[in-house]
Amino acid sequence: MEKVTVNASTSYEILIDKGILDSAGVLISKVITKGKALVVTDDNVDGFYGERVMKSLSDAGIEAMKLVFPHGEASKNHSTLLKIYEFMAVNGYTRSDFIVALGGGVVGDTAGFAASTYMRGIDFVQIPTTVLSQADSSVGGKTAVNINGGKNLVGLFHQPRLVICDTDTLNTLTPEFFSDGMAEVIKHGMIKSAELFDILSNKDIKENIVDIMKRNVTIKGKVVENDEREKGERMLLNFGHTLAHALEKYYNYTGLTHGSAVAVGMSTFTHIAERRGMCRGIADRLDALLVKCGLPLTDEAPLHELYTLSLRDKKHLASGMNIVICSDIGQSEVKKMSVEEYAEFLKS
Ligand code: GLY
Repeated sequence: MEKVTVNASTSYEILIDKGILDSAGVLISKVITKGKALVVTDDNVDGFYGERVMKSLSDAGIEAMKLVFPHGEASKNHSTLLKIYEFMAVNGYTRSDFIVALGGGVVGDTAGFAASTYMRGIDFVQIPTTVLSQADSSVGGKTAVNINGGKNLVGLFHQPRLVICDTDTLNTLTPEFFSDGMAEVIKHGMIKSAELFDILSNKDIKENIVDIMKRNVTIKGKVVENDEREKGERMLLNFGHTLAHALEKYYNYTGLTHGSAVAVGMSTFTHIAERRGMCRGIADRLDALLVKCGLPLTDEAPLHELYTLSLRDKKHLASGMNIVICSDIGQSEVKKMSVEEYAEFLKS
């Protein structure tokens, strides 16, 4: 089993291996020694893995209940949060108890936010079951729900006590969903690791998935250690996301998936950066890897509309835009641009 430690405001381990789901209870009991668990999951993931996790907790002597909500982004809201709080209150969950988030990004973010606020904050464990949540969202303590005004607008930083990545759970993802998560994996290679980028480009991804996930969480963990609250280096993780968020808004969060939008964002900005002499010979290599992973490179949405939507992004500051540019594969920097400079950048 691979182990990566994140030394953020609290330290925790990320455990990665094939088939470790059935050991979840034992692995958790080494870190959390008292209290009962609430497993929070969605109806899709529950069908595949809910009972296995409940059994492993019970086998390890951990008392546990399970709360299941409908899968999909529409569940990532205050009404699901309230259901979790009420369920915990009615069933006598106290500050010494903990939540186990079993699923993808929606489950992790929502259950994580419930853990960060129930009784002013209780422990939680992440068991991510998608490429996106294993490589990215389960690490770093970002928890949030959506409101009508935008995605992830209400949340807290609350680090998990443990992250358990069983890469076998990725076998039940549809090929489209697997591809979608690969956008964040490619992003990590682009911003921080030429070695990861080369592995992704030259090797069979599924055969090397444990190594790939280990490299991803190591990159993500280091960025979080250096800048947990996203004041500087963590902004690098937004590579491709400025345009992606605008694209997702343009399509009203339907049709175009997050990973596809990030892929288009990364490719577009890298081609523009190359045209402006900010990097050389990397846009085609990025495109080849995106295509290998089944991700798109372009989209039909008009750039002027995307520009307007970018300015409404929650990450757009009064002082301008923080745009992430890769100067080479594995090397990235945040460029501060005024809105006028950003408009010029997009036009080119
Ligand atoms: N997914 C970006 C971050 O955690 O900062």
